[in-house]
Amino acid sequence: MSQKNIRNFCIIAHIDHGKSTLADRFLELTETVEERKMKKQVLDQMDLERERGITIKLQPVKMVYTYKIPNTKYQIPNKISNSDKILSNSSFPKRGIDSEYILNLIDTPGHVDFSYEVSRSLAAVEGAILLVDATQGIQAQTLANLYLALEQDLTIIPVINKIDMPNAEPEEVAKEIGDLIGVEKEEIIKISAKTGENVREVLEEVIKKIPAPKGDNRKPARALIFDSYFDSYKGAVAQARIVDGRINKGDKIYFLGAKAESEIIELGIMKPELAETEFLEAGDIGYIATGLKEVSKCRVGDTITKFKVQSSKFKTDDDKSNIEDVEPLAGYKEVKPVVFASMYPVDGDDYPELRDALEKLKLNDASLSFEPESSSALGRGFRCGFLGMLHLEIVSERLGREYNMNLVITTPSVLYQVVKRSGEEITVFSPADLPDPSAIAEIQEPWAKLEIVLPKDRIGAVMKLAENSRAIYKSANYLSQDRVILTYEAPLINIIVDFYDNLKSVSSGFASLNYELIGFRKEDLVKVDILVGGERVEAFSRIVPRSKSCEEGKRIVEKLKDAIPRQNFAVPLQAAISGKIIARETIKPFRKDVTAKLYGGDVSRKRKLLEKQKKGKKKMKSFGKVEIPQEAFLSVLKK
Ligand code: GTP
Repeated sequence: MSQKNIRNFCIIAHIDHGKSTLADRFLELTETVEERKMKKQVLDQMDLERERGITIKLQPVKMVYTYKIPNTKYQIPNKISNSDKILSNSSFPKRGIDSEYILNLIDTPGHVDFSYEVSRSLAAVEGAILLVDATQGIQAQTLANLYLALEQDLTIIPVINKIDMPNAEPEEVAKEIGDLIGVEKEEIIKISAKTGENVREVLEEVIKKIPAPKGDNRKPARALIFDSYFDSYKGAVAQARIVDGRINKGDKIYFLGAKAESEIIELGIMKPELAETEFLEAGDIGYIATGLKEVSKCRVGDTITKFKVQSSKFKTDDDKSNIEDVEPLAGYKEVKPVVFASMYPVDGDDYPELRDALEKLKLNDASLSFEPESSSALGRGFRCGFLGMLHLEIVSERLGREYNMNLVITTPSVLYQVVKRSGEEITVFSPADLPDPSAIAEIQEPWAKLEIVLPKDRIGAVMKLAENSRAIYKSANYLSQDRVILTYEAPLINIIVDFYDNLKSVSSGFASLNYELIGFRKEDLVKVDILVGGERVEAFSRIVPRSKSCEEGKRIVEKLKDAIPRQNFAVPLQAAISGKIIARETIKPFRKDVTAKLYGGDVSRKRKLLEKQKKGKKKMKSFGKVEIPQEAFLSVLKK
């Protein structure tokens, strides 16, 4: 199909504002998914996404829509935003003619930890639907995602959702959006993604307003990889936007960044399941199965091109002559992880499997980073970097579910810059690596800029919470009469753990948060060590401000007292700074009698329960004589 009839777009929104539900309605309207296969949030394909009701992965889908222009007078509205872009859109359908359009939608996640998925999707499309919940108004991720879309110079179509809800305030929300992006509030389409009201209008607005792709089919092929995954039969599979040229099944291709070559063993489109086609050309979004077993060669952000001479003996240098002239596409900025935690297999023999699992998972989660490391207590493992705590949680769940890994994950930490007395500067990823205090001249910790969107009447409560989190007030801007954006700067470690939960609770769920790293600042920090049964457990160590260290030590041992199950012997828990004990608790001895509730006879049931208890124990790692469950490592972080 001619590029004039292709539209590539995303839906961006704050978490839960209804992206996946709107995508469902689009799939129904365009009859992309058969009625019998239709289920709620059909584009959330991972079990984990469906269980938690959140989108984690971007998901492309190709839809075909027949635009029926009524044979009455149809006027292009003259008071529209981006009007210059629309009027220059030569592919705008003419009155009286039905036209078929290909609509390539990429559904994106809303949570801040997955914003890399959003930014990559945005680079593959020309426009974005900005969806705002009529009961919530503009929220922190609405703003963050809008900025990302504007950076890419995308055409924005603002849409207000959930107008069927009794507490919807579409007029107020329309005013907020209008003021923010400079459109008349009457132009904003008001819909219910649940009932389907006005959803067709949104699809037609996409056709009218979003420009068609402008690639050149005659130029050498260039495809931008925006996502990838590993398939044991097809090797590394890239999801890509074809920017220029045309690629066919069987073509010899070349990865400009990775300098790797391979042959396309299959290609096609996502419906959202894979549907094979013969070729993909400029403007298309599709998948390319590369057959590569070395997954690191199929990197997100890389450009795929193809050899000009498609002979079967392409391995001679001459055949590659055209490759040097192809300019790589812009690609993506490297993401900077903000949280680090180490992962060790419970069974040391599983180390190679863990490496393999991380490599394959990274192909599907480009924001995950990892490096091998070893620890005297835990053996060989990996130090991993994440975009936030939810990202860490999702990665550890995926490693368990998809790769069957049984892991110990150390208490997450941010990254510290340490200047030693010798003048040497080092980066410390985990408190366990902090040098001896006598060797340290200065420690710097990462800071973040926070944007909190909240109703005016919650300002007092939120300001108090921010103060308790060592945050520094910067500014307040009114979104409307009743809603404000507060800007703060705060140490990252105080934000990533439970600031968000606390913010939700002090604002009764009405405030939302977005944050970004702004740099490192000097602070008087010390390491608090935790001793379990007299032995230091590195994974529990934390770096905290000196002024708060005693309070923190006490809090951690109290937490651990609840998190570590009783053993057959008493276990002392101690917090120490440079060897000096600052807090102490004791876990009393006890063997949990799981059969207590079974009075009377059935021996086999009793045995079953005891077996189950034994199995549960397998998941724990032994430190000295003490077995510590995985939950304990994360629980010490939460206040
Ligand atoms: P994330 O991808 O996790 O950010 O969420 P999302 O933006 O995709 O939101 P999703 O479509 O999962 O919808 C969130 C909740 O809002 C679900 O319970 C939907 O059923 C509900 N919802 C979505 N649209 C509407 C609507 O128009 N009306 C009503 N009443 N509920 C809606």
